[in-house]
Amino acid sequence: MKKFLADLGPCTAIIGAQWGDEGKGKVTDILGEHFDVIARACGGANAGHTIVVGGKKHVFHLLPAGCLHEGKPVVLGSGMVIHLPTLLEEIETLKKAGVHLLDRLFISGSAHILFEFHKKIDAVMEERRGAEGIGTTKRGIGPAYMDKAARSGIRMEQLTGDLRKVLTEKAKDVKIMYGIDVDIDAELAALKTAEHVLKHAIISLLPDFLREFIEKKKTILIEGAQAVLLDLDHGSYPYVTSSQTTAAGALQGLGLPPKILSSCIGVAKAYCTRVGSGNFLTEDTGEAGERLRERGGEYGSTTGRPRRTGWLHLPHLQYGAFINGFSAINLTKLDVLDTEKEIPVGVGVDTNGKVIYEKLAGWQTSTRSITEFGKLPKAAQDYVLFIEKKIGVPVRLIGTGQGREEIIVR
Ligand code: IMP
Repeated sequence: MKKFLADLGPCTAIIGAQWGDEGKGKVTDILGEHFDVIARACGGANAGHTIVVGGKKHVFHLLPAGCLHEGKPVVLGSGMVIHLPTLLEEIETLKKAGVHLLDRLFISGSAHILFEFHKKIDAVMEERRGAEGIGTTKRGIGPAYMDKAARSGIRMEQLTGDLRKVLTEKAKDVKIMYGIDVDIDAELAALKTAEHVLKHAIISLLPDFLREFIEKKKTILIEGAQAVLLDLDHGSYPYVTSSQTTAAGALQGLGLPPKILSSCIGVAKAYCTRVGSGNFLTEDTGEAGERLRERGGEYGSTTGRPRRTGWLHLPHLQYGAFINGFSAINLTKLDVLDTEKEIPVGVGVDTNGKVIYEKLAGWQTSTRSITEFGKLPKAAQDYVLFIEKKIGVPVRLIGTGQGREEIIVR
């Protein structure tokens, strides 16, 4: 671990290499301990990671998984869209578990506020799309970013102002465009509650705030949200989220210069899952896919939806490695494959658009809780080495179970 940590340098980004849900939370939690500042850059409550606090499981949507490390500043970046009641709930959950966040939480004043009406618009837009629906999390993400891009959004820095007038104007547009009645009083009441709790956490210029840490030689861990293939620009559009999910996007979302990034860990499951609609070339809708879902507990932590399951597609990982400049891969949930006789891996696509698979031998023995690469069965080692060779990036972390300690570090 020591060598691995030394290789990371002062600023590390953790980025999903597939369609999200790769298990980024676990690695941020493990690495968070060794960094001075924990930051989330983009996205909103569409993300979901399960964290165990005081022996109890909690699902967090806005706070980075690394927030559990007492005393460390936690930053919510300018690229985020923040649903304030959700944030307050998460802070309260932590408080009940004895983790105090308020005196070390810093929210960019440029982050946008996501309102209840954004969620309603999300639902109406999905309904209008009918069979071509994106399968959004219905957390209002797209509509909040629509307001941001139209320059008609409301930002955290406005939380302490009087927003009745601007919300009344907004409500008129929302009614005309979507037939939705905005409950202005309820929205304002939620803002008031949030203002009371959060006003001291709002930072007017996040880049200046972070620069001070950097000048003091403090280290920063950036927890990416969603994943490369859901990126608004580089993902499988239109079946993507509405924010930037790459390392560059994360730096932009925090206002950090690209040159500061010293390492980037791409997180990929040892197989593949997707929630929502869109292409999934290596999807397995048969028995094996069902097995992956059950063994891997593949149900959405935000929506509870069963995830679509399938096999690794190496061209996707190569694509993500290039875009993000992965310096290491964290392959998660290797143990989910323990019962497979044969493991197909997508290595390319033929001229008819069909996936070309290579079939690797399974190991059919438990890898659960193994913490040394040399102790993995030979076929499991070969599986990892095959992936590493094809992507051209070292697989330095391998997950072998849910627990914090169930990981191999190479
Ligand atoms: P939205 O971000 O709610 O607009 O959803 C757009 C697409 O991104 C849908 O296919 C969602 O299922 C997917 N998505 C958004 N956030 C996550 C995530 O954290 N994990 C996995 N998929 C996500």
